[in-house]
Amino acid sequence: MALKITVIGTGYLGATHAAAMAELGFEVLGLDVVPEKIEMLQRGEVPMYEPGLEELLRKHVAGIEGSTGRLRFTMDWAEVGEFGDVHFVCVNTPQKHGEYACDMSYVDAAFETLAPHLLGPALVVGKSTVPVGSAERLARTLAELSPAGEDAELAWNPEFLREGFAVQDTLHPDRLVAGVRSERAEKILREVYATPVSEGSPFVVTDFPTAELVKTSANSFLATKISFINAMAEVCEAADGDVVKLAEAIGHDERIGKKFLRAGIGFGGGCLPKDIRAFMARAGELGADQALTFLREIDSINMRRRGQMVEMAREALGGGSFLGKRVAVLGATFKPDSDDVRDSPALNVAGQIHLQGGQVTVYDPKGMANAKRLFPTLGYADSAVEAVRGADVVLHLTEWREFRELDPAVLGEAASARVLLDGRNALDPEVWRRAGWTYRAMGRPTA
Ligand code: UGA
Repeated sequence: MALKITVIGTGYLGATHAAAMAELGFEVLGLDVVPEKIEMLQRGEVPMYEPGLEELLRKHVAGIEGSTGRLRFTMDWAEVGEFGDVHFVCVNTPQKHGEYACDMSYVDAAFETLAPHLLGPALVVGKSTVPVGSAERLARTLAELSPAGEDAELAWNPEFLREGFAVQDTLHPDRLVAGVRSERAEKILREVYATPVSEGSPFVVTDFPTAELVKTSANSFLATKISFINAMAEVCEAADGDVVKLAEAIGHDERIGKKFLRAGIGFGGGCLPKDIRAFMARAGELGADQALTFLREIDSINMRRRGQMVEMAREALGGGSFLGKRVAVLGATFKPDSDDVRDSPALNVAGQIHLQGGQVTVYDPKGMANAKRLFPTLGYADSAVEAVRGADVVLHLTEWREFRELDPAVLGEAASARVLLDGRNALDPEVWRRAGWTYRAMGRPTA
């Protein structure tokens, strides 16, 4: 009989995982504790913007015309316990308020609530990003609290999906990592992922701590790559070099690689910043803090870029105060193809300029509602042209395709001065300069 799957937590990770499991042919039951989310998902609507996810959901959610009906949602833990052979825990682990460590309360609550409903053999699979050592502890929680006892087993299976590519990354992962303690657990996970494995996704079997560490070290490496190129941008700025050319040239070395070498205002979002901090905090608890002190530098290079962007804007406005100056900000999300504004470098820069007296008007293709909720005091416009109208300087801070397709001539008519600062090194300087704009970017020569 085919395995029955439940997914606990229906955020970016869980909603995508649930839809992907249904796509792979399994019967799936998703659970969340937020009623509004469950109601939306039951209607086949996605609570966030993620390309392709709504289509996949509608293809499988029960009750939607023409769907396979393999995917259902509930708020009932007992139903989840009874239904599933495999339970994926996909709740989030945000940064603790005022601390570097991550907040495990959602994960702990999920395990403590699920366990008493596990009456027979079940595999609980952790997907959340957690401090190393958590799986060991959660395995004990399961054994103690579930009526099934030892038959309720744990596996750790970190997730590497990127927002904006969540569906693709889940259905065709570049690797699968299975932290297991028994052959049975490995066999079940191999069955769940039989399709991607048959298509060539490597399946790496590890112990618990290694599986947990794979995730935090992967994100630390990515953060390091970005901060490395941003440090080179700082040096290029001092030496009049061009970081975009530099990245292209070093990227041809396969050992270095081209990806994640885009210099600009740095990384943000719900993952990289909090993950490197939680990793440092955990290493400290383990007495291995020295090994990760470099991440402190990675973090500060990254945060410095936001301040540097503010200073570039100040300089472009004549070097004094922002008072009475009109600043257009293109982009609010932490990256394109997402509506996520968590720790967004773009909004951070917009906020800093606003707090210093600048009149900031923001436009983003998908992030407006979330941005307004987080920063209600900023100005917002319904289009790029409207944001730019009357602006003394234009800041390009999230590299949406829509911004690359803007007509510099049309924008030039709307702006009060043709000054563009590219915080993502994603626009073509020649095109803008030909249209009479002063184009400046981070880590690139001024003309
Ligand atoms: C990141 C990882 O890439 C995923 O593999 C991981 O699963 C996920 O975190 C997670 O832990 O859940 P994500 O946060 O969606 O994914 O975003 P990324 O594509 O990694 O981008 C992060 C930030 O780095 C963005 O603000 C982006 O603008 C910035 N970035 C990225 C750069 O500044 N330069 C680059 O070259 C690449």
